[in-house]
Amino acid sequence: MEINTLRPLHGAGRKLYVETYGCQMNVGDTEIVVAVMQREGYVHTERIDEADVILLNTCSIRDNAEQRIRGRLAELKRCRRERPGLVVGVIGCMAERLKEQLLEGAHGVDVVAGPDAYRDLPRLVRQAEAGGKGVNVLLSAEETYAGIAPVRLDRNGVSAFVSIMRGCDNYCAYCVVPYTRGRERSRDAATVVAEARSLFENGYREVTLLGQNVNSYRFGEVGFPDLVRRVAEISPLLRVRFATSHPKDMSDRLLDTMASMPNICRAIHLPAQSGSSSMLARMNRKYTRAWYLDRIAAIRQRMPDCAVTTDLIAGFSGETAEEHLETLSLMREVGYDFAYMFKYSERPGTFASKHLPDDVPEEIKSRRLSEIIALQNELGHRSNLRDVGREFEVLVEGTSKRDERQLSGRTSQNKVVVFDRGTHRVGDYVRVRITGCTAATLFGDPITEQGN
Ligand code: 5AD
Ligand code: SF4
Repeated sequence: MEINTLRPLHGAGRKLYVETYGCQMNVGDTEIVVAVMQREGYVHTERIDEADVILLNTCSIRDNAEQRIRGRLAELKRCRRERPGLVVGVIGCMAERLKEQLLEGAHGVDVVAGPDAYRDLPRLVRQAEAGGKGVNVLLSAEETYAGIAPVRLDRNGVSAFVSIMRGCDNYCAYCVVPYTRGRERSRDAATVVAEARSLFENGYREVTLLGQNVNSYRFGEVGFPDLVRRVAEISPLLRVRFATSHPKDMSDRLLDTMASMPNICRAIHLPAQSGSSSMLARMNRKYTRAWYLDRIAAIRQRMPDCAVTTDLIAGFSGETAEEHLETLSLMREVGYDFAYMFKYSERPGTFASKHLPDDVPEEIKSRRLSEIIALQNELGHRSNLRDVGREFEVLVEGTSKRDERQLSGRTSQNKVVVFDRGTHRVGDYVRVRITGCTAATLFGDPITEQGN
C-alpha cells in the first residue's frame, strides 16, 4: 500500500462530486475514481453546489443516453460562469468515444478521461486547475485497477458491486462497448475474493460480480464457475450475484455450481436481444433461438425457481414483421420475470453503422417496442402473482420509500419485497410469506418461527 506522508497532496481538501450514468460497471468505476482522487487529498461530496471538481461518468450505449448528458453539460456550463475555478470533466464511455471533441464547442469541458485512464485523473485535473485542459483516452490491454480499493458510495452497506473484468471482445454488430471500453481482461481472482471477503467482514451481505460478459472470465487456472464458488464459499450468509451473462458462453458447469450452493442467487440475467435466429445472426450474437432456449431449459432443469431476466432490442437493421413476432413468442416461451427493452439506436463506429442500414422506420420501431413492453408488463405481473402465497428469504436493504414503518429487501430471485418492520434491521435475512403484489413489487408478512 502506498502511504504518502511527505509529498504534499495536491487535492488538499478540495471537493469532488461525481455523477454516474449508464450501467453498473460505471457505478463500480465511480467508486474507483473516488478512491484515486482521495489518495490525492480530494474529499468526496454529494453536494454539487460545494464542489470544486465535477465529473460526469458517462454512457454511450444509445443516443438518448448521450443527449441527456449533453443537456447536463449545458447546465454545468452556466454553473462554471458563476464559479470561476470550477473544473468540469467527462469520464467514461462518452469521453472515450468523443475524445477531444468534448473540449470544444458549447459543452467545452476541462478534463476528458476514458475508462482506462482513471489513475491519471489527478494529473489531468491538476492541468485543468492550472488553466489548461487534461485529456487521456488511451485504452489499455491490462488495466484492471488492481490495488485500488473502491470507496463504497452506496449507503445501505448491505450490497456492493465487485468488478471482475473489463472491456468486451464480442463485437455485437450494434454495440459501442468494445470501442469505448477496449479489450476484455480479467482481474486477479485472489483480489476479487479478498475484496468480497473484506466486504463481508464489514457487514455487507451481498456482492454482485460485474463484467460485460462474466462467463468468459479467466485468470490463470480460474474460470468463472470457480470464481463464483470461491466467493460463495466466503460465508453461507453472503449472497452472490453476477451480471451480465452471454448466452453463447452460459455453461452447464456454471449452472451446476449455482445449483450446488444456495447462496448463489437464483437469478440469471441472460440478454436475448431478439427471438429470431436470422436477426441474431445479423447482430453477430453467435447463438440461435434454439441454443438460447436450450440454455433456458438447462437453467430450469437444475433450478426450477430461478428467475430469468433479459435485454431486448426492437427495430435493429432489416427487422421484419416475422422477426419481431419471434421476439414476442420467445418472451412468452421463456416467461421473463423482468426485461430491459430498447429501441435500436445506431452508434457511430460499430459494424452496423458501417454495413447494416438503420432502416426500420421510427414509427415501426416505436410500435414494436410498445408491443414488447406491453407483453413484458403482463409477464412480469404474472410472475409476481405466481409468488403470492409462497415463502422467501428476504435480505433487508433499507426502509421502504413509501412507508417508514416498512422495510424493503430482495428475494434470491432479485424481486423487491416490502413488509412490516417489526424488530428487523437492515442486513437481516427475514423469511417472508408473500401476500400480494403489484407489477413491480411483492408485499408480504414476516414469518415468526414458533418454538413448538
Ligand atoms: N441500441 C439499442 N440498444 C442497445 N444495447 C446495446 N447497444 C444498443 C444500441 N445500439 C442494449 C442491449 C444491451 C444493453 C446493455 O443495451 O440490449 O444488452
Ligand atoms: Fe456501460 Fe455500455 Fe454505457 Fe459504457 S456504453 S456506460 S459500458 S452501458
